[in-house]
Amino acid sequence: MIPKPLIDPYQRHLSYLRISITDRCNLRCIYCMPREMIPKLEHSAVLRYEEILRIARVAAGLGITKLRVTGGEPLVRRDACDLLAQLNRLPGIREVSLTTNGVLLTERLDDILAAGVRRVNISLDSLKPERFAVITRVNCFRKVWDGIMAALDRGMAPVKINVVALRGVNDDELTDLAALSLRYPVHVRFIEQMPIGEAALQPVRPLLTPEIKTLLAPLGQLEPVPASANDGPAERYRIPGAPGEIGFISALSHHFCHRCNRLRLTAIGGLRPCLLSDYEEDLRTPLRHGAPDEALAEVFLNAVRHKPAGHHLAEPRHKEVASAMSGIGG
Ligand code: 5AD
Ligand code: SF4
Repeated sequence: MIPKPLIDPYQRHLSYLRISITDRCNLRCIYCMPREMIPKLEHSAVLRYEEILRIARVAAGLGITKLRVTGGEPLVRRDACDLLAQLNRLPGIREVSLTTNGVLLTERLDDILAAGVRRVNISLDSLKPERFAVITRVNCFRKVWDGIMAALDRGMAPVKINVVALRGVNDDELTDLAALSLRYPVHVRFIEQMPIGEAALQPVRPLLTPEIKTLLAPLGQLEPVPASANDGPAERYRIPGAPGEIGFISALSHHFCHRCNRLRLTAIGGLRPCLLSDYEEDLRTPLRHGAPDEALAEVFLNAVRHKPAGHHLAEPRHKEVASAMSGIGG
């Protein structure tokens, strides 16, 4: 196939595909899942690994160089590490990374490393075990913490810690979470809660980056880390002298859409040009009806043609994103 680069109508080059491999999860974070989560997706609806690999191969032919595997919780899906290894072997793919809640990280670490994955993002919204259990509805802080420490011990880098800033829930410990970057070479990233899925149903006023920065004032002046070409949406800082970093992902308060380089593949084969819009192209149907690679590539080009310039979440009367985060993968 002749590689055609994925360039959208706003001249953004798309080189990064996030792949959700399951909507299931072993946690039930209050902002993500209802308490009783009935697994929503039929087993047969979810893409098989060979289907995901085929799509990723087509994507690589179109200039995708970075893949990130997400969920739900990707490590709850059987043989997820085999998929990681196979994705990493695809021609054109330079990097495969993983987003996980960390619960199974310690036990899968050998396999993750053997698959060639070095970059890992771990969700951690509290350092207090009881509070962690309230937020995730599962009492497993220790497992996640041990997973983070194990990832650092084994030399994974960067180890990113995602903190969703939750007003009235963890706003009193954001400084403690940021201070992890003083003790460990972790990148602690504060994420504004987006009105997606469960979070869209909660009438809380989101905690925005400027306010989060104010809460972090006791840590002193943060030093900006110069942006590098591969940076995602995070604004990066460091406490002077710290081995780690602090980042802010301001999905609501600051539009980073103009430099968004991502596409998303949902667990059931939807191709989404934007996290914050329900628009998607269907890859699974053509895939299961024997479409050739060229036809799948055409679906990619179509999705890219529909990538919106930006989102309108900051506007008071925006349309909510109905889909659950657990199926799109954040
Ligand atoms: N807003 C912001 N972040 C969210 N995540 C899940 N739901 C939301 C939401 N509504 C985060 C998780 C994880 C990442 C993949 O997405 O905490 O770190
Ligand atoms: Fe699971 Fe992540 Fe959703 Fe929490 S935010 S319930 S860890 S998928």
